[in-house]
Amino acid sequence: MVSKLLGLFGLIVLTQASNFPEGCEPRQVHIAGGADASKSLTVSWTTSDPDCGDFSVVTYSSDGWANNVGNAGGNTPTQYNQTTTKYGTYVSPYLWSCELPDLDSNTEYSFAFGTTQPSPSALPSPAYNFKTAPSASSSPCSSLYPTKIAMVGDLGQTADSASTVANIAKEEVDFIAHAGDMSYADCDHDRWDSWFDMVEDVSSNTPWYVVGGNHEIEHSDVDGEIFVAYESRFNMPRVKPAEMEPFTGDTSCTPSAFLGKYDWGNSFYKFAHGPSTFLMLNSYTDTAPDSPQYAWVESTLAEIDREATPWVFVLFHSPFYNSFSDHQDEEQQILMKGSMEDLFIKYKVNAAFSGHVHGYERTNNVAHEALDPAAPMYVIIGDGGNREGHASGFIDSTPPVWSAFRDNTIFGHALVTLLNETHAEFTWEKNVAEGVFETADSFIMENQYYL
Ligand SMILES: *[C@@H]1O[C@H](CO)[C@@H](O)[C@H](O)[C@H]1NC(C)=O
Ligand SMILES: *[C@@H]1O[C@H](CO)[C@@H](O)[C@H](O)[C@H]1NC(C)=O
Ligand SMILES: [Fe+2]
Repeated sequence: MVSKLLGLFGLIVLTQASNFPEGCEPRQVHIAGGADASKSLTVSWTTSDPDCGDFSVVTYSSDGWANNVGNAGGNTPTQYNQTTTKYGTYVSPYLWSCELPDLDSNTEYSFAFGTTQPSPSALPSPAYNFKTAPSASSSPCSSLYPTKIAMVGDLGQTADSASTVANIAKEEVDFIAHAGDMSYADCDHDRWDSWFDMVEDVSSNTPWYVVGGNHEIEHSDVDGEIFVAYESRFNMPRVKPAEMEPFTGDTSCTPSAFLGKYDWGNSFYKFAHGPSTFLMLNSYTDTAPDSPQYAWVESTLAEIDREATPWVFVLFHSPFYNSFSDHQDEEQQILMKGSMEDLFIKYKVNAAFSGHVHGYERTNNVAHEALDPAAPMYVIIGDGGNREGHASGFIDSTPPVWSAFRDNTIFGHALVTLLNETHAEFTWEKNVAEGVFETADSFIMENQYYL
C-alpha cells in the first residue's frame, strides 16, 4: 500500500483524493433543509464502500472550525436495488444521510466528512457551505426578506439541463424547489448516479427540495415496485416513513398517467423556509377527499400561521392549468384538481408550481377557470431541459382567459423573490447559454392573503 503511493502517480492521486479511505470518497452530495429550515438540515451522499469509519460522520461548524463544531452521523448506509426486464438488476451505491440538528437560524455553516478536527488545515475533507433559513418567529422582519427561490421542473441531464443548473447557480438562491422529473433515469439507474454528479456543485451547498414526477415512478415490470430510487436517494423532511405498495397493473416504467399507492416519506411533506411554507405533494398517489394526502393537506393548510409565514406555495408534478396540447385530461390530474383546487382557494395558497408539460406557462389568479384575484396563480415550469424535447404546441392558438404567458421554444427556470409580506417578484429566466440567461417574463405577485 505504502510503496504503491510512492510513485509520482500515487502522489497525485493522494493529493486529489484527499484522505478518504478507498471507496469512501463522498459522491453525489446533496442537502435539504428540515421541516423548519432555520433549525436543521440533512446531508445525503453516496460511497462505493459501506465501512467508512470516521468518514461516516459529518462535522460542521458556524465559526470557521474554531469552537462551534458539531458531529452528526456515525450511521449505517442503505442500498436499494431494482430489477427490470430491460436493465436486469441494478444495485445502488451505499446511500448515506445525516441530519444536522439544533442549528442556529440565519447562520452560515461549513460541513465536511470525517470526525472533528477543529482547524482549517486539519479538515478531514473538502468543506461545503450552506446557510440556514432565518427564523420566521424570532427574526426581525428585515432578515426574512428578500428570500430568493429557484423553481425548476423536468430537468434531466442534457446540455440544456446543464445550462439550467449553471444558470440557477448564478442566481445565488436560498433554496431550489423542483416540481418533479429529476434525472430521467427511466429505470436505467446508473443515470441517477450521473444526474447527482451533474447537479453536485449546486446540490451540495443549496437546499434542494423535490416532488416525485412520473419519471420517478420507475415501475418495475418484474415485481411492481414504484418510486424506489426517489424514496431511497432523497431525504426530504418526512412526516413519517413511506407507505407504498407495488403496482400490479400493466404499465411502462414511467407512465404519463398513473395512480398508485405511495404516501408519506418523500411522497408528500412540508417545509418552512423564512417567510414561506411549502407543501410538496404527489400527483401519482391518491388525492381524493378520503385519502391520507388530502387529509394531511387540509389540516396542514389550516394550521399555517400566516403571520409567521405569509407566503404559501404548493408543488406537484401534474398541472391543474395547462393550455398546451400535451398531457391533457390525465386521470391523476383530473382527480387532484377536482379534490384539491377548493382547498388551495379556501386557504389562499399564493401559487402552485408543476412540471410534466415541457414548457413554461403562468396563469393569472384563477379559480375553476374563472379569473379571481383572491385565488392562486398556477405555473408550469416543465422547461428544465429534459431529453424528450419541448412541448409540442397549444390546444388553441388563442390562449384561454386564465393564461398570462406561455412558451414552448426555450428551456429555463423561474425565480421567486419574496420582497416583503405583501409583494414578491416573479420572473421566468430563459437559457441563452450555460451561465447566461435573460428574463423573459416578469411579474409582481401580490399576496392574496391580505386581499
Ligand atoms: C435487493 O433488495 C432486497 C430487499 O431489499 C434484498 O433482499 C436483496 O438481497 C437485494 N438484492 C441484491 C442483488 O442486492
Ligand atoms: C412591499 O414591497 C412592495 C414592492 O417593492 C412595495 O411597493 C411595498 O410598499 C412594500 N410594503 C411594505 C409594507 O413594505
Ligand atoms: Fe412528467
